Amino acid sequence: MEKIRSISGLLSRKVLVAYYSKGGNTRTVAERLSKSLDTDLDEIKLGSTKGSTKVKFVKDPSEYDLVIVGTPVNGFKPSKPVTEYLMMNRGKFREIATYATYSLWPAGTLDKMTEFASKQPIASATFKSREIKLDQIDGKLSAYVESVKKRFKRTNSARVETSPIRGE
Ligand SMILES: Cc1cc2nc3c(=O)[nH]c(=O)nc-3n(C[C@H](O)[C@H](O)[C@H](O)COP(=O)(O)O)c2cc1C
Repeated sequence: MEKIRSISGLLSRKVLVAYYSKGGNTRTVAERLSKSLDTDLDEIKLGSTKGSTKVKFVKDPSEYDLVIVGTPVNGFKPSKPVTEYLMMNRGKFREIATYATYSLWPAGTLDKMTEFASKQPIASATFKSREIKLDQIDGKLSAYVESVKKRFKRTNSARVETSPIRGE
């Protein structure tokens, strides 16, 4: 069953962490984010058809108020499955936050994610693979979680404030 959670403390809002991971680093971050923010979790997987790059995922991003998308950096850009996920779900993201895991240099990966999703993220972060493996990402993860919470709350209040008042 899908969870309906409040991370703003004001309204119940649905949040999803969707990620692709080949070696486990991006999954580790996804699981920790999902636990910290109490969200649904969805793994983006490579399709089974040989030669096809079609990806598989279970949760519909349009059913969420915020989708946090995680990718490994592959050749200075997002992995193919996440690129495809972002492009095929373009227009379905109400709010998006992004992160990437990398070994040496993430280059323009986060910018590419914004471009593929056609949506400015409310927060983004990069996590180094060595630090993930050594369990040294607590500080960076908390900062990212706080940033997501703060900005998500802000976009929520802005939306409430600009709603037309009934009867006027
Ligand atoms: C094919 C391939 C290309 C990669 N390209 C880059 C890169 O351009 N820059 C970088 O810093 N790390 C690069 N990496 C390292 C991965 O981004 C890093 O190890 C990441 O944390 C892997 O995530 P995962 O364990 O979730 O699959 C590459 C790894 C692979 C396998």
